[in-house]
Amino acid sequence: MRAITLHINGTDHHLEIEDNWTLLYVLREVLDLTGTKYGCGTNDCGACKVLVNGEPKNSCVLLARNLEGADILTIEGVSHDGHLHPVQQAFVDAGAIQCGYCTPGMVMTSLALLDQDPDPTEEEILKALEGNLCRCTGYEKIVEAVQLTARRMRENAES
Ligand code: FES
Ligand code: FES
Repeated sequence: MRAITLHINGTDHHLEIEDNWTLLYVLREVLDLTGTKYGCGTNDCGACKVLVNGEPKNSCVLLARNLEGADILTIEGVSHDGHLHPVQQAFVDAGAIQCGYCTPGMVMTSLALLDQDPDPTEEEILKALEGNLCRCTGYEKIVEAVQLTARRMRENAES
């Protein structure tokens, strides 16, 4: 075991970990942050997506021991004071959730995209989300949710 400090959702967590533990394992099994999902475990589905220094990353293939000093954001850190983040609210409003298993990963990727580009085209949204698989929705509603967030952000900025 090694001692490590991980900065997750604005809080430092002092942990004892094994060298081969992934970030996903630490989140779910050590910290009980189960909003980040285990899908494939092989870097293919995006269910385990979190933001590391603002970039969407699959936490199932990141070794926790390499992440000291990184700013890690999980789905649990996205809402504030009991209020959904606008991206989360747009997923609800657009009906972009069915079983919901892919949703945390979709939200994390969408957050990173909108942070870099507040007005992405449909093509850009699909490109950003190509590493996030959904077995239920057919993606149309998910794209709509991202577009809805962008539109609301623009309207808020103008008002
Ligand atoms: S669980 Fe990590 S990419 Fe599928
Ligand atoms: S809503 Fe079920 S996998 Fe996407």
